[in-house]
Amino acid sequence: MINVGMMQFKNITDGRGDLTPIEATKDIPFEIKRIYYITGVQPKIRRGLHAHMYLHQVLLCLNGSVRVHTKTPLEGETFLLNNPLKGLYIGPMVWREMFDFSAGAVLLVLASEYYDERDYFRDYTDYEGVAKKFFGCEALL
Ligand code: TYD
Repeated sequence: MINVGMMQFKNITDGRGDLTPIEATKDIPFEIKRIYYITGVQPKIRRGLHAHMYLHQVLLCLNGSVRVHTKTPLEGETFLLNNPLKGLYIGPMVWREMFDFSAGAVLLVLASEYYDERDYFRDYTDYEGVAKKFFGCEALL
């Protein structure tokens, strides 16, 4: 879907284990200004429930699994992240919800900008109003 997609990273394995390098602007389409990781999430918890105006992110589940639902006014898709070689790119103006965290799940997020609460839409109705204009879909819906 638009502004969302899975990315495959490389695995360098030599008998001592696996190593996955991710270089900004080479392996992902932005400079990394911030990383954060989410751990210790209980099974019934839903996180995210927001969109960003400008931020680009890549989500990687380094251990365990988590589902991520992405949506815009035009489309929606749910991804299962359960492989540390696969990242989910989420660009601007995409609503996301993370749920079904497995025991021990470690969700790493690479982000293009410093944390800025002003970049967030935390209310779906507010988001939807702006997103319909952003995606030029008012005439279609
Ligand atoms: P929140 O956006 O609610 O997390 P999630 O997207 O997983 O639901 O963030 C939780 C808290 O952490 C909130 O008070 C904002 C703060 N925070 C930072 O200080 N820096 C960051 O980089 C992020 C992502 C969140």
